[in-house]
Amino acid sequence: MNRSELARTASEMVAKGKGILAADESTGTIKKRFDSIKLESTEENRRSYRELLFTTPGAAESISGVILFDETIRQKTRDGVPFPEYLSKQGIIPGIKVDTGAKPLAGFPGETITEGLDGLRDRLTEYRKLGARFAKWRAVIDIGPGIPTTFAIEANAHALARYAALCQEQDIVPIVEPEVLMDGDHSIERCEEVTGAVLQAVFAQLHAHRIYFEGMVLKPNMVISGKKAANRASPEQVAEATVRCLKRYVPAAVPGIAFLSGGQSETEATLHLSLINQLGPLPWNLTFSYGRALQESALKTWAGNPANFQAAQKEFAKRAKLNGLATTGRYTLEMEKQAA
Ligand code: 13P
Repeated sequence: MNRSELARTASEMVAKGKGILAADESTGTIKKRFDSIKLESTEENRRSYRELLFTTPGAAESISGVILFDETIRQKTRDGVPFPEYLSKQGIIPGIKVDTGAKPLAGFPGETITEGLDGLRDRLTEYRKLGARFAKWRAVIDIGPGIPTTFAIEANAHALARYAALCQEQDIVPIVEPEVLMDGDHSIERCEEVTGAVLQAVFAQLHAHRIYFEGMVLKPNMVISGKKAANRASPEQVAEATVRCLKRYVPAAVPGIAFLSGGQSETEATLHLSLINQLGPLPWNLTFSYGRALQESALKTWAGNPANFQAAQKEFAKRAKLNGLATTGRYTLEMEKQAA
């Protein structure tokens, strides 16, 4: 394990003013996204869409890294440059999603365990050769009547830590993503309680698995009300609860925390990040690793039509820039009105 390389990569991923684009939608998920614009999910459509995002002028000013999917890391720009090489040349670090999805946890109705550990060492070696310098693994924790159970939290924390150890062995920075879903009608207090329990279990397992904290990035949910909650907490309450929860459970040795957007709207996700950063100074850099909250407007504007390519890139550039500002707490809602 090359500790100095891991620490250097991790701090570049969470550098102030920048964040991560999650473009690692699996074949099933990207099909859902394309269904929303009535576009067929062919390999070429998936390739062009990713090219649109990756070749956006100025993206590297606010994007430090991009998470790719297995198919995407092997694809090329129209001009024949492999995506990882293209991104590296712009100063953007290529990364790779390595879990194979959340599957029903036998014996625990309504809960899941993330798979993908078998053969992972060899896959990481290959991804490293293809240019990946960091990886992602997402564990999913749902809140509902009687769930999550301690058992499901522990099982997912254990798998996350085994993944993280394999990554660091291969000099790949692990993004450790335990996502507490915002589906459902639970309160922000319930989200804080569950997120706290999950982070505590995750860091206990990371510690037990001898993870080098300086060479990893945490990707958590924000502490937020369920989408269907009767009284949703205000943006200020989300920021306060999120910071309080992270301070309690995340060691200061971790260089950065890159939030997922998890179904928040684009502006919500940017505003929350900015308010969180206004509560500093904090021991870690707090940034974004958004999928939907960076891509929604761009995807809609593109709609699969080559004529909209540049207009869609502008939408993506705008979101990247505003989220970049949010990493230093300088974003305001007023900025949404200004052109990209
Ligand atoms: P969202 O920001 O759309 O939640 O996606 C981030 C991600 O990578 C989830 O694994």
